[in-house]
Amino acid sequence: MSDLVSIELRPQGERLEVRRGTPLREVLFAYGVEFPCGGRGRCRRCRVKVLSGSLPPTPEERSVLAPEELADGWRLSCRALAQSDLALEVAQWEAPILADDSPFEFMPGEGCGVAVDLGTTTLVAQLLDLKSGAVLGVRSGLNPQAGYGADIMSRIQVGLSAEGGRKLGELIRSGIGRLIQDMLPAARDPIGRVVIVGNTAMHHLFCGVDVEPLSHVPFETARDGLMTFRAAELGWRIAGDPRVEFLPCLGGFVGSDILAGMLATRMHESSELLGLIDLGTNGEIVFGTRERILCASTAAGPAFEGGRIKMGMQAATGAISEVSVVEGQLRCRVLGGAAPRGICGSGLVDAVAAGLELGLISPAGRLCSGESCFTVCPPVALTQRDVRELQLAKGAIAAGVRMVLDLLGASAGDVQRLYLAGAFGNYVNRASARRIGLIQFPEEQVQPAGNTALLGAKLALFGTPFEHVRQRVEHLSLAADPRFQEIYVEEMAFP
Ligand code: FES
Repeated sequence: MSDLVSIELRPQGERLEVRRGTPLREVLFAYGVEFPCGGRGRCRRCRVKVLSGSLPPTPEERSVLAPEELADGWRLSCRALAQSDLALEVAQWEAPILADDSPFEFMPGEGCGVAVDLGTTTLVAQLLDLKSGAVLGVRSGLNPQAGYGADIMSRIQVGLSAEGGRKLGELIRSGIGRLIQDMLPAARDPIGRVVIVGNTAMHHLFCGVDVEPLSHVPFETARDGLMTFRAAELGWRIAGDPRVEFLPCLGGFVGSDILAGMLATRMHESSELLGLIDLGTNGEIVFGTRERILCASTAAGPAFEGGRIKMGMQAATGAISEVSVVEGQLRCRVLGGAAPRGICGSGLVDAVAAGLELGLISPAGRLCSGESCFTVCPPVALTQRDVRELQLAKGAIAAGVRMVLDLLGASAGDVQRLYLAGAFGNYVNRASARRIGLIQFPEEQVQPAGNTALLGAKLALFGTPFEHVRQRVEHLSLAADPRFQEIYVEEMAFP
């Protein structure tokens, strides 16, 4: 038997070899994982999930981790030794998942209900008491389809085959089913209804709708109305077999997550012009008043999530999340207080804004030093290609916003409030976003709005009507508009 074992660390993708029997704590400490209770097996913060290989649970782990967690492969890395080859998912490296705890008005109902925000990357479910509005449970997790690609287009490509579509549908239905199952013990009364919102691709894959029309221009939805099921049809064993509703899409790549966001921001009731943007791989944009609402989507690419950036990573331990200029020098904040090992979306926007301020990056996006990269905080640096990736992402959003506002006959100054949804929208520095031309609105008009999709799903669960809102929304297909390319190229430059 070899003296060495191999360890793969995900989602970072590091592979290493260590001597058999090495404490995992030693191995992970070198990669910036923190051990808040000093490795005494109390805080659970050092959890790893065994994706392959064997790590039998210790008696201490049995007392600290729930039986379901143990069954899912979770262990405490501070208590474990590397005795065999392992692939591990490090909990501290997971991207933060936004739930929602904002107060909201509701009409009391009967029993309990569940609201679900089904995202391309993450899932969040809340169990609610419909009489009191109390949140009885929250569960979140990564979308189990992630192994089939990080972005919507890769999932759609897989979903084009009957087998791929079936597999992705099963994965997501059972993933949400597990979150709900996990919360059932907290339900005071029977669950009467489950409301799910998500982008168009997630809607189609969950509901078993053909994704083919989403795979090519003009990116139409195959079926965008309200889809209803019984829990048992989805393979969920819930007492009373409640009704499950996936709220309707708005068109193209604008899903019910944005419809829910409109309910949450009450855009459809507003006499003043409001906007809502979900800054993701697929940027979803909606502006409107109670008179008229217009939405669109634009392919921003993965730069806001650290994707296609040489040292890009999710907002997790070791990621540079903020960059500022202090006395002419760059100052960085690293998540988890660890040594920097990459840069996440908010850090990238800050770093480029700082580079523009210091004259290190030109308005056209060129690195002015003539060198191949721009050091943010050693060893983390941005390459010329990284800056271009950000230009592509921010250009797509800015062009989409400009075209939607143009069609409404409005300008940025007419917008009373712009809400930013999604994790990146909540953490991005508004001044930096304005400096690079991503969000061209005065800072005081821009408001991070948390998880508006989940809040809207909860409102729908409590009976807020949504069908009349959906019917009033006009969908603008940017891909079909000949002006888009020209405006996109213009918006790629930095102000
Ligand atoms: S470091 Fe606290 S439980 Fe492992």
